[in-house]
Amino acid sequence: DSIELQKQFQAKIEADIKIEPKDWMPDDYRKTLIRQITQHAHSEIVGMLPEGNWITRAPNLRRKAVLLAKVQDEAGHGLYLYSAAETLGADREESIDDMHTGKAKYSSIFNYPTLSWADMGAIGWLVDGAAIMNQVPLCRTSYGPYARAMVRVCKEESFHQRQGYEIMTTLANGTPIQKEMAQDALNRFWWPALMMFGPSDANSKHTAQSMAWKIKRHTNDELRQKFVDATVPQAHLIGLTIPDADLKFNEETGHWEFGEINWEEFYNVIKGNGPCNKKRIDDRRKAKENGMWVREAARAYADKQKERMKK
Ligand code: ACO
Repeated sequence: DSIELQKQFQAKIEADIKIEPKDWMPDDYRKTLIRQITQHAHSEIVGMLPEGNWITRAPNLRRKAVLLAKVQDEAGHGLYLYSAAETLGADREESIDDMHTGKAKYSSIFNYPTLSWADMGAIGWLVDGAAIMNQVPLCRTSYGPYARAMVRVCKEESFHQRQGYEIMTTLANGTPIQKEMAQDALNRFWWPALMMFGPSDANSKHTAQSMAWKIKRHTNDELRQKFVDATVPQAHLIGLTIPDADLKFNEETGHWEFGEINWEEFYNVIKGNGPCNKKRIDDRRKAKENGMWVREAARAYADKQKERMKK
């Protein structure tokens, strides 16, 4: 019986038919999705912090309105993703607690500090740019609710990427000090952005199975290469230099070859020892505690409404 179900499941995957919440699925498929989707949700929520840091210090009203909208979008993405994880039976509160205790991961990139306004440009351009590269293929991921959530998320991420590149373009064409700020932000965010794609294929323990289930549609290294190829010309266009002495264009393959990633730094950050890991988790925990009274009040109000309906 279970062999038959397994066969039907794999046949659907092969035929690119989406798996839906009530369909039978292997336990490990469910577990892998819950792991990836909740990690993705945590990343969206923690990802609000480095940029939230600059909302009150945006250089003008237009920049402030745009940044505010962008950070709110990230909250929305987190909420869709927690909902998608719930369709698989994940408990939202438990998942969030797992992030707070360090049991669940979130993207390494959000453990770096945002030191200047130019970092808002670098994050939009590079971090959201990397996010799009990874998430556009996820619109075709095999699990229906995750794929559908990604469609809207990607539209919003494209706007984020453009607002970041616009900030970088303005700074790069500004005074020498502004150009220097833009270059400094690129220097600090370039390598961490490449690390967002995860370990090299040789060291990625989940890729093979996730590709077979069509949860992932490309490997980590494939997406990283696509990102480098798309982004290097954008840097050159605005007169900025990629901080990689080994970067060179290969005429034969048509790809930009790049230097070795500092994997020690990557593993150190995902183990919890990056520059801001502790601060990010403390801030999230505090937000949860400080919001407790709001959730309690909302619940009490909902209960009261329900009682009134009965009468
Ligand atoms: N930061 C933190 N952890 C990471 C990162 C990273 N950049 N890359 C990989 N990892 C973790 C994996 O979660 C996995 O941990 P686990 O086994 O303890 O759960 C481990 O490192 C091994 O990596 P892989 O085998 O390559 O894991 P996976 O197949 O899940 O690939 C990837 C990682 C590419 C991030 C994948 O999960 C994915 O595509 N996720 C959806 C997109 C996403 O989460 N984006 C978040 C950042 S973008 C944004 O929020 C704006």
